Amino acid sequence: MASGPDSVTIRRPDDWHLHLRDGEMMRAVLPYSARQFARAIVMPNLVPPVATVAAAAAYRERIVAAVPPGTDFTPLMTCYLGDATRPDEVELGWREGVFAAGKLYPAHATTNSAEGASDVRNIYPVLERMQRLGMPLLIHGEVTDPEVDIFDREAVFIERVLTPLLDDFPELKVVLEHVTTKDAVDFIRSGRQPLGATITAHHLVINRNAIFAGGIRPHMYCLPIAKREHHRLALREAATSGDQRFFLGTDSAPHARSAKEMDCGCAGIFTAPCAMEIYAQVFDEESRLDRLEAFASLNGPRFYGLPPNEGEIVLERRAWSPPSEVAAGDDSVLAFAAGETLPWALRSDPS
Ligand code: NCD
Ligand code: ZN
Repeated sequence: MASGPDSVTIRRPDDWHLHLRDGEMMRAVLPYSARQFARAIVMPNLVPPVATVAAAAAYRERIVAAVPPGTDFTPLMTCYLGDATRPDEVELGWREGVFAAGKLYPAHATTNSAEGASDVRNIYPVLERMQRLGMPLLIHGEVTDPEVDIFDREAVFIERVLTPLLDDFPELKVVLEHVTTKDAVDFIRSGRQPLGATITAHHLVINRNAIFAGGIRPHMYCLPIAKREHHRLALREAATSGDQRFFLGTDSAPHARSAKEMDCGCAGIFTAPCAMEIYAQVFDEESRLDRLEAFASLNGPRFYGLPPNEGEIVLERRAWSPPSEVAAGDDSVLAFAAGETLPWALRSDPS
């Protein structure tokens, strides 16, 4: 069988969608992201949410203080947009360089989203201001209507919420985050305004069967939930297509094992320890390693109007096992691909 190159060198990548949490959990998981990514868009869904300039600046300081010495990692903060968000607060944070974007969670769509917008129209004054400023809006694109099948919630969101929203804000820079469906891929490609989408590593390698393989698998449960195989294939095609509108966002979302392995376990997959390795594997399988750098290191900065990173990372074809369990205080987090051997490794890591 023909095989591609044995290594690939790319500019240091960024993660345009990351959950770092806070406290002991943040200190436990942050090194895994910082070893790969130079910057990350940090999600604001703490309890309470990061919804003010002061809260974001303080959270940023706590993250920076936890970056391992000698590692270059810059957190880019987001403002949690809810019914109570004031446009002036958002503008202040943007002008002061604290907020890199605003994050819209439909209320109750996912982990810690209870204080999200109960109706997108409630934040229209904020969106108007963001449109004027050129500040990106990051969207968790799922409807919360319990009548809508969980596997259809992204597609229905596009039709019911996103389409009218983009009609009302034709200049707003929007990222549809962690897309999981062919519907979303097609929509992004439909060529409207400044519209981008992030794609996770796990949605490129699992479909919904993984959640039920031999029994129920809480560590494969995330939101948006993994979909059917043809959707996964559409995501792989989009990620590796070279289209600038698609870029890397892991949505690495650590939860303690005790919060996942229970009768109502949390949504979120912790991919930070093996994200670039999995993206490299996917691009290799699609014979598109030449496009990994665009997806991981160039398209995101272009969308955000930031320069690409200066440094480089090397990924090499070499059997490697990610750390399976990461200790966090009295508990631990199980990483994606725990116990597996992956075909690609980051150069600095021993086998
Ligand atoms: C995220 C989390 O745990 O914070 N969970 C997830 O399944 N992705 C929230 C989110 O991004 O939906
Ligand atoms: Zn997320």
